Amino acid sequence: MLTSLKKQPADRIIGLSALYNADPRQEKIDLGVGVYKDAHGNTPIMRSIKKAESHLWKTESTKTYTSMTGDSGFHNAMADLVLADSVDRDRLSFCATPGGTGAIHHVLELVKLTESNPKIWFSDPTWGNHLTIAKHLKMVVGKYSYFNNETRAVDFEAMVSDLSKISNGDIVVLHGCCHNPTGANLNNEQWNIIADLLLEKDAIPFIDIAYQGFGEGIEEDAFGTRLLASKFPEMFIAASCSKNFGIYRERCGIVITVSKNPDISSITQGNLSYVNRQNFSFPPDHGARLVTMVLTDPDLRADWVSELEQVRVGMLDARTHLAEALRKECNSNRFDFLEHHRGMFSRLGATEEQVNKLRDKFGIYMVFDSRLNIAGVTLDKVNTIAKAVIEVGI
Ligand SMILES: Cc1ncc(COP(=O)(O)O)c(C=O)c1O
Repeated sequence: MLTSLKKQPADRIIGLSALYNADPRQEKIDLGVGVYKDAHGNTPIMRSIKKAESHLWKTESTKTYTSMTGDSGFHNAMADLVLADSVDRDRLSFCATPGGTGAIHHVLELVKLTESNPKIWFSDPTWGNHLTIAKHLKMVVGKYSYFNNETRAVDFEAMVSDLSKISNGDIVVLHGCCHNPTGANLNNEQWNIIADLLLEKDAIPFIDIAYQGFGEGIEEDAFGTRLLASKFPEMFIAASCSKNFGIYRERCGIVITVSKNPDISSITQGNLSYVNRQNFSFPPDHGARLVTMVLTDPDLRADWVSELEQVRVGMLDARTHLAEALRKECNSNRFDFLEHHRGMFSRLGATEEQVNKLRDKFGIYMVFDSRLNIAGVTLDKVNTIAKAVIEVGI
């Protein structure tokens, strides 16, 4: 039977990591992988998480199952973090999932259960997994304009124009903050315009928020999500704890849905539970428990907030240094967009040929669409990167 399987296309980002690992050059620089790295190139465990883990080890008395959709303490802590008081709690339903990826998959499965077959609209470009998960689930996918490759900013006019053409009941996926792969984000005024447009179109927003705290700050990064939650009768949210709590391998994420009223939210809760039961039964709990402890213990939370702020400011510094080095190198301000982008990524706007040249000639690895991980731009490498970028003609 297995002989009838076709070879799956390789994941290009994972393939890139393999290429990087196999590269014997000492001076190689990894700007490809989507993981936060500190100045020493490490992805450390946060202090607050370590403390929570140590406390959990001493106090946890059972490893029996949680509830089918995860622990209610985790649901509430995440609702506070992502939504604050933007929407009544009795309109929310929750499901803990293996990572943000699990949450995205879960939302789309829930949508399938509604049998309404909406078109799912993604930004062009978007995180590659969005499209492949939706296609894997045999859903109808559309793309709306988002990024202007010349200005390296959001092409807001084109975005509005495309979203004006969608049908009622369609689902529009928006990155809550720190757009992956471009780094270009909506400002608050633009969020308001998109909210009004989607309301007018009777569309349903689906927010993927995977980098809360990496952009402008923990509260600021939730602006769009909270705005939509305060206005829409229905909405989906997939939140990831991988990056902002640094617990990538624990696989911790959550689905939060907003329903029209508490009765519907209770039915939605049952359906979220059903989807979990059919897929993997109970969700992983360790990461969720750590996140709950960090968010609800005032000391741990204060420590986490300061650690996350350090990560955020470190990435802003890297942006400033790289833009400055490029300004010197090319005698122009055409790379200043790096300072305007937010989050872990920026799209340089280079051709694949230029990206390959950076890799082959200089050992600088970035994703084929010229997405670079700004956390990999450490102070000791910034001039090397700037020189190479100009030398390959970007
Ligand atoms: C836009 C976006 N959404 C969701 C995720 C999900 O991450 P995870 O499944 O590791 O929590 C990522 C991770 O790279 C992402 O970039």
